[in-house]
Amino acid sequence: MAKLRLGLLFGGRSVEHEVSLSSATSILRALDPTRYDVTLISVGHDGRWRLGAPSLPAPAEQAEGREVRLPAAPNGGSLVPVGGTELGASGDLDLIFPIIHGRGGEDGSLQGLLELADVPYVGSGVLGSALQMDKETAKRLLHAAGLPVTPWLCVRSRELTRDSERVAQRALDALSLPLFVKPANSGSSIGITRVAAADELIPALREAARYDDKLLIERGVDARELEVAVLGGDPLEASVPGEIRTGRDFYDYEAKYVDEDTELIVPAELTEEQIAEIRRLAVEAVAVLEGEGLGRVDFLMERSTGKFYINEVNSLPGFTESSMYPRLWEASGLSYPALLERLIELALERHSVRSKLETLFRSGT
Ligand SMILES: Nc1ncnc2c1ncn2[C@@H]1O[C@H](COP(=O)(O)OP(=O)(O)O)[C@@H](O)[C@H]1O
Ligand SMILES: [Mg+2]
Repeated sequence: MAKLRLGLLFGGRSVEHEVSLSSATSILRALDPTRYDVTLISVGHDGRWRLGAPSLPAPAEQAEGREVRLPAAPNGGSLVPVGGTELGASGDLDLIFPIIHGRGGEDGSLQGLLELADVPYVGSGVLGSALQMDKETAKRLLHAAGLPVTPWLCVRSRELTRDSERVAQRALDALSLPLFVKPANSGSSIGITRVAAADELIPALREAARYDDKLLIERGVDARELEVAVLGGDPLEASVPGEIRTGRDFYDYEAKYVDEDTELIVPAELTEEQIAEIRRLAVEAVAVLEGEGLGRVDFLMERSTGKFYINEVNSLPGFTESSMYPRLWEASGLSYPALLERLIELALERHSVRSKLETLFRSGT
């Protein structure tokens, strides 16, 4: 059987650029070379796409390659060189595996380009990606579907500029301390502050406003943090749950990437009933937010009540071998390479189903 020509797209114009390099490095290592011809495509901090030399060991070293682009019109999955000569076979792709976290990679804009280019790709489509990226829209939809989310308020940064005292008072009247303040579009806990005292609220809002003009203020929950991996397909499947334990106030950037003592506990210690409940909620959350392929659903389990709250759904979660998403599947009986295979299969299936849809309509006769 001919090898599948897979474009591994990584990097990106977001604060999670480096995380993406680690994810891509792990994926590259695990893809079976007898089945896949991998083309490495690095998206720089400048947003430009550059081709990696396949002989180089790690995606992190690819940034010097030839500049390419994917035309926003169907052309059989061929990358086009920016200046210079033709790319030859290395530019032809059967499928793209985008592993770009955060804005521009996970928010639907890249998925829009891939749709226009008519190339199969791994993960959620335009709508699912956009919904999952925007924490406020996601919360609204989850809440409307009767799924549990923490009480919240949405604030625009222009309201903050106009009258920050008033914004703060409204939040303090509506929600009890501690609060969490976050940009609606963020990741890796960047721009997020736990607010324990009223006078910390305005500085926290200003900090969040550096990253987005839409902000969330949420009731802070004293909680265990649990995560479930979802995969699919129809039906969507849920992994066993895992737990994150940190030595900090919350799971912030340092706890995620710096601290040595952050623990990922897989599987999480929960009762049978709690496991059934959290897995059901995870599948429902991904379904409500139009997720496809993969999604990691993050929960807060309130210590005092045992109640589960859906904190967020990530359409392109961290994907190194030691990341929670692959580890949860590993613990559920699906190895890292098998997980990649399944995601690729799902991408091809979706593309083939969609390409059968009518694009012409003739009424009447
Ligand atoms: N309402 C909340 N109550 C308690 N902790 C929270 C709340 N919201 C966020 N956190 C803490 O902040 C971390 C990051 O918030 P999250 O919304 O998951 O943003 P990110 O997309 O950056 O991961 C969470 O993992 C959790 O530790
Ligand atoms: Mg999170």
